[in-house]
Amino acid sequence: MDKFRIEGGHPLSGQLQVSGSKNSALPAIAACLLSEQPVVLHRIPRVRDIGTMLKLLEHNGATVEWLEGGALRITAAEIKNPEAPYEIVKTMRASSLVLGPLAARTGRAKVSMPGGCSIGARPINLHINGLEHLGAVVHQEHGDIEAVAEKGLRGNTVHFERITVTGTEDLMMAATLAEGTTVLENAAREPEVVDLANLLSKMGAQIEGAGTSRIRIEGVKKLRGAEHEIIADRIEAGTFVIAGVATGSEVVVSGCVPEHFASLLVKLRQAGARVEEAGTSVEVRPAGRLRSVDMTTEEHPGFATDLQAQFMALMTRATGISFITENIFENRFMHVPELARMGANIRIEGKQAIVAGPSTLTGAQVMCSDLRASASLVVAAMVAQGNSILDRVYHIDRGYESIEKKLAAAGANIERIG
Ligand code: EPZ
Repeated sequence: MDKFRIEGGHPLSGQLQVSGSKNSALPAIAACLLSEQPVVLHRIPRVRDIGTMLKLLEHNGATVEWLEGGALRITAAEIKNPEAPYEIVKTMRASSLVLGPLAARTGRAKVSMPGGCSIGARPINLHINGLEHLGAVVHQEHGDIEAVAEKGLRGNTVHFERITVTGTEDLMMAATLAEGTTVLENAAREPEVVDLANLLSKMGAQIEGAGTSRIRIEGVKKLRGAEHEIIADRIEAGTFVIAGVATGSEVVVSGCVPEHFASLLVKLRQAGARVEEAGTSVEVRPAGRLRSVDMTTEEHPGFATDLQAQFMALMTRATGISFITENIFENRFMHVPELARMGANIRIEGKQAIVAGPSTLTGAQVMCSDLRASASLVVAAMVAQGNSILDRVYHIDRGYESIEKKLAAAGANIERIG
């Protein structure tokens, strides 16, 4: 099983280029099921979760082709199996993103219930409730959810009792082919939701209000093919900016949309970091001692939960006490005991982590537990004294494209070992 060996103390320099967004590519791929015509997607990151989603689309009957130049063409001329089997869903919860498109396109969808996840229970009850509001009859049996709408879905108002990103995306996709008007209230406002709405609009969908908490969709009979470039990965960009600040580097993170992670930049400046937006880049410059700041994760445009772990690793280097509150997922502190193995001083009280700094981190053997926790261990290892070995880096490969190569090219002392 692959590991990373990282020697700390090497500042970054030059440029770190950001890839396309994993969390935008996943729903965009699912959206291809809504049309029988080809959809061409650009800037799809080569990460493991994308491979899983493509396998699922092929299982549904779509053809998947990587074109010269790296674009992806998906054609779902016919849906053979409107289902997402356990074998695939158990490796990636985002597989439930095909529920809405399959139900809308064929009138039937069977998706395996996603099991437990290391960061929280993560049920999909809001996806199911939403589909029921659109007229689907949903029942659960043998670990599967089956949604049936023989006469097709019907537009309706869906009020999400809690903001859900993939729930919003799933229902927005389903509503594009539903008869009549759907209004999604308390919808997620993440940039990935907006990017999906842009793709769907190019496919002929009638959508208003994406990016606000009220999205209105006028159903149409059919959607056509389209060509679309996926937005930059704001979580990868934020991770690189944090790595640059943590290592006291002069480095440019390029090919991103700084506005998509503005709340991170605000927090970094409060901590005394020197980070400057320059068009589609963020320039990081060495700063003096960092000050501790408090942070609470929220839905967009608040501070992203997917950057919480990386930010915590940074706060171990800051002077003072920072209170980090995780409001989105109930079990997203798996990185804390691993950071403690490197010498960090962190106490957990309920959904709050209390970080005392500055700590001098020392290299150690640590275990990756989930995608973003792994990224925080990479940041910590880059500032620690000596070598660290990160086990189970398959977690990080799920959502970061060749992270070790990108960081090594910018001066980090990191390698993948078998
Ligand atoms: C998306 O997950 C992202 N994944 C996650 O990124 C991200 O952490 C999360 O949004 C929050 O920003 C993708 O886009 C593929 P939610 P999602 O539904 O949609 C509860 C990463 O690291 N909830 O917005 O699954 C849920 O348990 C991943 O790239 C219900 O109770 O998250 C959570 O506490 C990790 N019932 C909260 O809502 C539901 O039906 C927000 O979850 C749905 C969600």
